[in-house]
Parts: sequence; C-alpha cells; structure tokens
Amino acid sequence: MDNYIFKEVDNYISSLLIHEDEVLLSIPQTLKDANLPFSTISPNQGKFLQIMALACNAKNILELGTLGGYSAIWLARALPEDGKMITIEIDAARAAVAKKNIERAGLSDKVEIRIGKAMEILQQLNQDNREPFDLIFIDADKEPYAEYFKLSLQLSRQGTFIIADNVIREGQVMNANIKDDFINGVQRFNNLLAMTTNVTSTIIQTVGIKPHDGISLSIVSSK
Ligand code: DHB
Ligand code: MG
Repeated sequence: MDNYIFKEVDNYISSLLIHEDEVLLSIPQTLKDANLPFSTISPNQGKFLQIMALACNAKNILELGTLGGYSAIWLARALPEDGKMITIEIDAARAAVAKKNIERAGLSDKVEIRIGKAMEILQQLNQDNREPFDLIFIDADKEPYAEYFKLSLQLSRQGTFIIADNVIREGQVMNANIKDDFINGVQRFNNLLAMTTNVTSTIIQTVGIKPHDGISLSIVSSK
C-alpha cells in the first residue's frame, strides 16, 4: 500500500500541533548511539497518549516496555505535581538510555524505571497491594500481551484506562494461519479483549510515519 499520503498528513499534523522539545527530538539518536532499535511510538501517538492521560486525570501511570523513555516522557508530562509513573524495562542497556532521557526531561522524581521481566514486576506490584493505576500502557514484548492484560486488570479499578500498542500489524492479525510469535501474541490479546466482559474496548487503526498498525483502548467498566 502506498502510504505516502498518510506520512504527509502525519507530518502536517505534527508541524501544526505536536511540539517535541529538544529531549524528545534527541531520543532517536540516543537509541542509535547505544545500538538500540527505535521501535517507538510516533510523535503524534505520544501526544495522543498524553491527551488520554489528561482526559482521565491520571495520577498513577504504569507502562510496560520503556525502551528509550519516549512514551514515558509524553505520558509523565500529563501528570500533576504529585503524580507518579512506573515504567518496566527488561533490558538494562535500554533502561540506562531511558534513565538519562528522563533525567534530561526533568522527570526523575515522577518516573521510576523498574528493570526486570514485566510478568514478575506485575506480580510484585499485585502483591504490594498498592492503589490501582489510572492508566496502563502495554508496549512490551508481544507474546505475553494477553497475560500482561490480565495482570493489568488486577492492578486496575473501575474506570482504569488500559492502552496497548501494535495490535493490528498491517492487518496480519486477521491471518489465522500465521506462525509468528509477535502476531500470535497480539491475536491472543485481541481475542481476550473480545472475551473480557467487564472491560469496554475498541481498537483504533494507526497510519502515518510508522507502518499501519493499531492501538487498543479499554476502560475497566466493573471490577
Ligand atoms: C515494533 C514496533 C513497536 O511499536 C514495538 O513496540 C515493538 C516492535 C516493530 O516494528 O518491530
Ligand atoms: Mg510499540
């Protein structure tokens, strides 16, 4: 598919409405310098997440998959003075890059990076009996997305907003015969969304400077 128009329009929207500061602009280079991939959300998607956090008055945010801290910075900038965010990253090299970027953004007092397996850290958070998160953004490894969603529900209250990235993958999720850990993980996740009755969910397709994909949006309607 020729996505030239989608890229052009994404750039049009960005130049009109999305103002990345010098920290956000520098993040691709900080990842490159550390030989890390740049599988980050786009600027417009960053702003979208920020708006979602503002819309639900998020004071406590959880993110799965920090990478360079790009989405964490967008989200944390929606937090009030006393707001907090935990972001989980399995890879120490990525976490080191993110830590620096979050420091440069002046957000170290609000954003805590937890290094380790998301599954284990989510279980720990559950055991901590902490107050539920207002917004959870799932963007870590895709194979266990369904399990991440179930654990996220345990960390939620009625009204918690759960968002997940990469759930369409250029429509490959519609292929029932595909053998691919990434796609199969997302397919299981999407089916779980469909089966989870105490959550109101949809998926929005995303086009633009990144390949065609989708972001799921779920509100916990009862616990
Ligand atoms: C890729 C993209 C993502 O947004 C992500 O979270 C992981 C991987 C990718 O295109 O490889
Ligand atoms: Mg992603």
